[in-house]
Amino acid sequence: MKVLVTGGAGFIGSNIVDRLIDEGYDVVVADDLSTGKEENVNAKAVFYKMDIQDPQLEAVFRSEKPDYVCHQAAQKDVRFSVADPVSDARINILGTINILQNCIKYKVKKVVFASTGGAIYGEQDVFPAPETHPARPISPYGVTKLTAEHYMYYYRAVYGLDYVSLRYSNVYGPRQDPHGEAGVVAIFIHKMLDEQEPVINGDGEQTRDFVYVGDVAEANILAITNDAAENIFNIGTGVEVSINRIFNSLKEIIQPSVEEKHGPPQPGEQRRSVIDCTRAREILHWEPKISLMDGLKMTCEYFSARRPAHSR
Ligand SMILES: NC(=O)c1ccc[n+]([C@@H]2O[C@H](COP(=O)([O-])OP(=O)(O)OC[C@H]3O[C@@H](n4cnc5c(N)ncnc54)[C@H](O)[C@@H]3O)[C@@H](O)[C@H]2O)c1
Repeated sequence: MKVLVTGGAGFIGSNIVDRLIDEGYDVVVADDLSTGKEENVNAKAVFYKMDIQDPQLEAVFRSEKPDYVCHQAAQKDVRFSVADPVSDARINILGTINILQNCIKYKVKKVVFASTGGAIYGEQDVFPAPETHPARPISPYGVTKLTAEHYMYYYRAVYGLDYVSLRYSNVYGPRQDPHGEAGVVAIFIHKMLDEQEPVINGDGEQTRDFVYVGDVAEANILAITNDAAENIFNIGTGVEVSINRIFNSLKEIIQPSVEEKHGPPQPGEQRRSVIDCTRAREILHWEPKISLMDGLKMTCEYFSARRPAHSR
């Protein structure tokens, strides 16, 4: 069986690629390397440096004939989506339509899509939010992910293209980009390894649902193989964790002497976000296996081993 992974040079996509290859799948990666790195791409995967909006993507489908598409490529920066909603929509909506059109033409069996539990629900009415929670995105990024889900619904209804949308919570782990705006775990780890003080935005009591990337890769494998009629699954832990707790856990692992430093709160930042994963547990038979402390330790070890020798 062959899987085309878009965004397979990125943080989550490359972890999925490794897992697929371990499971014996043939893997093809299409990634424009805008945020991903070629060195992340497993040597056993066939790599195409390609923008998902490019009409040439059809040539990849024509020659590779994937059985499944795991669509991870996206513009994922919420602040960029606010600053440039047109570019954001081009990549996340038009790029997705380009993929779906090719899936129909080349008879792909199923698409697994990287959606978001954090940005789709907006300010939550209930904690944790189930998949049935109203979708009220408050960023262009969240709107594009919800729109992609609507397109997949349409392609299934009209053309019979099967799909699963996985609404991830806050994913962390090896290969996460520590230089972006998102990814508080990677940002804090880098600061602490450099013996600097990370700045906690506001009082640090804002919460998120942190899920380890290996568990997310596992959910993607199960989404490919599971033939349940359900299409949308939250993929998180259901546990609300404050930014202060992340800081204190990393402090314990890396640098017990680091001072806790707070900056101004980020305007418009969501206060609480946590998703209910009962549906994934019952239907996909998925559940997060890595505890927060174990996941943080593995992530610290990964970044620590890759630091230049002089700064270790
Ligand atoms: N990281 C999280 O916590 C999180 C949470 C919810 C959803 N997601 C979604 O998961 C997916 C993967 O995110 P990530 O955190 O690994 O980000 P990432 O930036 O590391 O990965 C995205 C990959 O897509 C590639 N890409 C971007 N635009 C492209 C284009 N036009 N054509 C081809 N490739 C392109 C990038 O080069 C990169 O390799 C995204 O769809 C993101 O929206 C991530």
